[in-house]
Formats: sequence, C-alpha cells, structure tokens
Amino acid sequence: QRYRDSGSSDKMNPFAEQEAWEEHQIGKASLRYGSKNKKLSSDDYQYVFEDGIDFIKASVLDGTQHEDEMAEEPNDSAAKTMLEKLQEERKSLPIYPYREELLKAINDHQILVIVGETGSGKTTQMPQYLHEAGYTKDGKMVGCTQPRRVAAMSVAARVSQEMGVKLGHEVGYSIRFEDCTSEKTILKYMTDGMLLREFLSEPDLASYSVIMIDEAHERTISTDILFGLVKDIARFRKDLKLLISSATLDAEKFSDFFDSAPIFKIPGRRYPVDIHYTTAPEADYIDAAIVTVLQIHVTQPPGDILVFLTGQEEIETIDEILKHRTRGLGTKIAELMICPIYANLPTELQAKIFEPTPEGARKVVLATNIAETSLTIDGIKYVVDPGFCKIKSYNPRTGMESLLVNPISKASAMQRAGRSGRTGPGKCFRLYTAYNYENDLDENTVPEIQRSNLANVVLSLKSLGIHDLVNFDFMDPPPSEAVIKALEQLYALNALNSRGELTKIGRMMAEFPLDPMLSKMIVASDKYKCSEEIVSIAAMLSVGNSIFYRPKDKQVHADNARLNFHTGNVGDHIALLNVYASWKETNFSTQWCYENYIQVRSMKRARDIRDQLEGLLEKVEIEIVSNPSNLDAIKKAITSGFFHHAARLQKTGAYRTVKNPQTVHIHPSSGLAQELPRWVIYHELVLTTKEYMRQVTELKPDWLVEIAPHYYQLKDVEDSSSKKMPRGPGRAAMS
Ligand code: CDP
Ligand code: MG
Repeated sequence: QRYRDSGSSDKMNPFAEQEAWEEHQIGKASLRYGSKNKKLSSDDYQYVFEDGIDFIKASVLDGTQHEDEMAEEPNDSAAKTMLEKLQEERKSLPIYPYREELLKAINDHQILVIVGETGSGKTTQMPQYLHEAGYTKDGKMVGCTQPRRVAAMSVAARVSQEMGVKLGHEVGYSIRFEDCTSEKTILKYMTDGMLLREFLSEPDLASYSVIMIDEAHERTISTDILFGLVKDIARFRKDLKLLISSATLDAEKFSDFFDSAPIFKIPGRRYPVDIHYTTAPEADYIDAAIVTVLQIHVTQPPGDILVFLTGQEEIETIDEILKHRTRGLGTKIAELMICPIYANLPTELQAKIFEPTPEGARKVVLATNIAETSLTIDGIKYVVDPGFCKIKSYNPRTGMESLLVNPISKASAMQRAGRSGRTGPGKCFRLYTAYNYENDLDENTVPEIQRSNLANVVLSLKSLGIHDLVNFDFMDPPPSEAVIKALEQLYALNALNSRGELTKIGRMMAEFPLDPMLSKMIVASDKYKCSEEIVSIAAMLSVGNSIFYRPKDKQVHADNARLNFHTGNVGDHIALLNVYASWKETNFSTQWCYENYIQVRSMKRARDIRDQLEGLLEKVEIEIVSNPSNLDAIKKAITSGFFHHAARLQKTGAYRTVKNPQTVHIHPSSGLAQELPRWVIYHELVLTTKEYMRQVTELKPDWLVEIAPHYYQLKDVEDSSSKKMPRGPGRAAMS
C-alpha cells in the first residue's frame, strides 16, 4: 500500500525514494531546499522519510486568469506607512474593480447574493465599502456574520488595521462570551449565533442598516435560521439591505430562496492547481500527512503548505511530531515554521499564521476546516488534504448527537485544492485515491440543520415568538422527527408546557447562550440554593476538555494532581467545581495552575464565562446563593438539566443508558473510571474506540423520578437484581 519495500533491510534506500518522486513527478522534483539551495545528499534524504508516499498527478483545477493579468504586488518602499501599504493591498484585491458596480447593485436591490472565490475580499472589503458609501451614517451598523469565532475575530482585527482604528472601537466583533464592541462600533463582525441572539432583544434589528450573511455556503444551523428571519424582516423593513455572500458557485439556491434576488459574481483570480492523488489508499492519514509535508518541504520549490485536519487534538499531535522530526534533522533542511489554527487557539497565537514567512523558511499551517473558506492565508502554494473533517451527526430516534470524523464532500475537496492557487500555480496533494474521490465522496455536505439536535433552535425560535415550526421558512427543513424530539426534550425540561408554549423556566433558559440542558441546570440551581456553585460548574464545562494538562513525560504526576480534586469520589462535576474554587482561593494564581497541571488559559476563560453567566443570573432574577457543602443539592441541580443522560451499570462493567438503551463506558479520564457507581449522569458522549461518557457524576436513581416525573417512571429506575455489581480496584484502594 505504501510505496515500495525493496525487500531486505534496505528499507530506507533513498534512491528508490527519489525515483518514485521523479517517476510520478510531483512537479519537477528538484530535490533542492531552502535558501541555501543545497542539493540533498542521499544520506540526508533517508533521515527525512523512512517511507515516502506515492502520488500521481491526475487532474488540473483550472485557473481563471493568467499570470500577466494578475495585479502587481505592491512594491515595498520604505517611505510608505503601514496604512498606505494596506490601502494599496485593498486596491489589489479582486473585488476592488467592482466596487462601484457592487454599491450600485446594493442601492438598486434590497437583497443581493454575492459570490466570489475565497480571498477576493468579500468579508474584509464589503463592509468598508458600505461604510464609505454612507450606510453607517446616523450611527447605524453594518453587521457581518461568520460561522466561526476565529474568523469573526481575525477579520475584525484585519479591518480595524485597514481603517487605522482600534479594534473594538469603530470596528468590533461579538462572539459568544466575548463582546469586543463599543458605542462607537459601526462595522460589527459576529458569529451567526450571536446575531441570532440579538433578535431576542431587537426583533427588527433596528440598529443595522445592512446585514451581510457571510459564508452562506457553510449552512450552519444559525445561518439557516437567520435566512428565514432576515427574509421576514426585509419584508417590513424596506430600508434594511441584505447581502448573502458565498464562496461557492451554486448561488442559485440562495437567490431562489430570497425571491429571486440578483446574483453578483466577482470574477475570481486563480492560478491552475495540479491535483495529485495517492496511488493507493492510506491507512493512517495523520502519518501520511506528516510524511507528505516533509516530502514537500525537501523536494518542492519555496511556498507555504496548508494541511487540513479535523480538530485541535490532531493538530497538536502533528505539530509535535513535525517539530520532533525536523529538530532531529537540524540544519540539514530549511526551517519549517509550524503554525496551528483552530477555534480554541488563543487570540495571541492566531496572528502568527498571517505573518509573512521569513526568507529561506517555509511555513506549514495546520488548520481545521476554518481555512477552507473562512480565512484567507496568503502565500500558500501546497495543500495537503487528507479528505476528512469532523461532522456532527444526530440520531433523532435515540436523541444522541455525536461529532464524528467523516469524509468531506467533493465541493469541500475543490475548495481546499483552490487554496493553493491564490498567488501562483499551486499543488494539492490528496491523501486518497482518484477512485475514492469519484466514488466515495458526496457532492455536497448535508446542511447542519438536518443532522443536529434541534432543542436549542426550537427554544430560540419559541422565545422569538415563532411557534409554528412546521411552517417556518427553512431553506431546507429539518426532519420532522428531529423537531418532535426537540419539542419532547424541551417539554421534559419544563421549558415548554403541554401546548408547546414557552414556560417561565423556558423563558429564563433562553437567556443563556448555552445548550438547553446546561441552561436548565443553571435555572434549577435556584430551587436547590446553589447557583454560585452551579455557574462555576457550567463555566468549567463550557470551556471544554482543556482544563487538565497531561504532559507525556509527567503523566503520573498530572494524574495524581487531578485525582486530588476527586477526593471522596465526588464525581467529575464536583471535581471541576473544586478546581475552580481552589484556584479562586489562591486569588487566581498562575503558579498554582502550573503546580496542579491545570491550563491557566482555560481557567481564565472559565472565569470570563462565569462572570457573564453571573450577569445573566441577575438578569433572570436568580439570586446568587452558595451552598458548597450540600453536594446532593448540587448534584440534583445537575440532574435537573441532564436527566436525559442517565446510565446504569451492567454486570459486564459497562453502562446502559436508561432511555433508548445503548451501551456506553466511563471515559478513562474520569475520576470515577475505577469506581463504577451503579447509577451515573454524564455531560456528553464521545465516540473514540468505544462510546464514552465524559464528565460523570454518581446519582441516586430516585432523583430521576423526583426531578423528571414526566420522563422517568418508577419502573425505569427499579433495580431488577440486588446482586452486587463488579467493582474496579478504585474503591478497594480508597476504603
Ligand atoms: O472574504 P473573502 O474570502 O472574499 O476575502 P477576505 O477575507 O476579505 O480576504 C481578502 C484579503 O485580506 C486576503 O487576501 C488577505 O490577504 C487579507 N486578510 C488578512 O491579511 N488577514 C485577515 N485576517 C483576513 C484577510
Ligand atoms: Mg470571507
């Protein structure tokens, strides 16, 4: 499957490698590298790959314009200020020649669909053009939505630079738990989810003169709902302009939905991209990606590399391995600058991917899908596409939602390849075969709304006064099964009454920008008099799985430190609370985090989230009450939100979910992994090698009937046998 093994111990025969490259010519493999232009000796070569990958060039993604037609790079003269340079760059973007035409089209039509290649300047330029043309007069804002928080932040930062203003003043952004805007703000970038929330307080979006729904092709749930809502507003607010912008060419669908709105196409500029496939399927795409990056680095002319990966963990793994392997090579190869980019990457580190690559070095950007269309990174000449992304899928029958690594669609594959041809002819290395591409990939990705739990959506729509979900104007309606399941879930959570109307609890829940189960947990903390503790837990859960730090060489220490917070087998939720409370006691000490193998960055984020949740508690008039010693009260509040997630121990040592029975296990990172309590409640399921419950707490089964009587009956929680359940070694060690 992998290229060649000439049989004997001579597994690393570098000449064989070299032949393979030349035979299938990945470009004109020059075997030169770096600024020194030194030819690699065969000795050096074998350090780089133990085993290379065999690619075959199969097709060319056509360019749309030739080199001589391309705008000239603005030449750097020392006299130019940063601002002047940025202004020149603005004028060199593909969208610039169409500025007047675009503004005229917007003036003439209320709704306009705009289509243009990634990098043409839609996101950064359109709002500025609108501002320059007077759309922000009398304090009205131009709002631009992004499906991803990183994109909203980084684009806002770029635009504020271009306008020479401080980020957060005239140009700002708003993402969940972070509002970087002020009274001055006239250009506001935000996630689509945040605009959705703004409808709650301003149903006619009166502060906006223009709404640009950007990256419409992504079809996130929030974007899809925004489509229906803004279409409705546009009918009674004739002064509101709507722009729907997309990077892909199937804009007819958007136009059809918005009553045949005109489509404005910005002709792209792209150089041809050679597409290479592996000759045989790759068993391990992580490994294949690493080898391919190194192969490109030592054999290909200068130009940066963009690798598409599925998530933070994968990116960190590859980052580490690449660093390790290039360090081992020392000065034998040119410098490889590794730049990760994913949603949770701290802001200070995000800027690195936009910095120009130093002379003689090569940049390799390890990105999630965010680099497919949301972010434009200049200088990319090589794309490595393993062909996967993480996709949410939902089974309305069981109510289980999972995030799984899935093959991408053909449309995505084309977008990814296109990223390499922006500044010169590019090459895309697909880590799958041409046969796989033709036969195994779907044409397009299914819109998120058709593969998600809709409880959140239904709650938002209900709180916007939209009761008739069946007749809501969806571009692609969600499956009715999923809508019914969501209604059932919200009813069980007491957010809706039996007529499907929002209850007082439901109204309070809708104020929190959280999943309904988490918001219910918070609202229920009022009853159990432990709101102080519950918001800490909610904030810690919202940060995700990046609280504990487990360096490879100190795993035992790290695990011991973690178990300290679990004393008394309190369960993972209380352990998270203990972490937060202890940190607070040290007056939020960074040193304390280091000593306890806790990521200070995640803790700071948890503190920010917590502050906001506390503010929202005030808003819904829930008193902040502390009750740290009554663990049962805290656990009951958790159960009030998460009773759907109850599981019971089986004789096998595995668990079974109580409703819609499914076999699940306690995640090894849980403090209860050894303990195996008879009944547990979990925060989420993750599928790795098995279906694992993450963040687990022990529960008394009668709580289920007490707390969720219309969901659980006594028969659901009765123990059918009184036999002792198997115990792990944990309890023995503890007692
Ligand atoms: O939205 P679209 O893909 O059409 O393009 P854009 O995001 O407006 O990007 C236009 C140009 O702005 C890109 O070519 C980048 O050079 C630059 N840009 C940047 O330098 N830093 C950012 N954070 C975003 C854009
Ligand atoms: Mg864009």
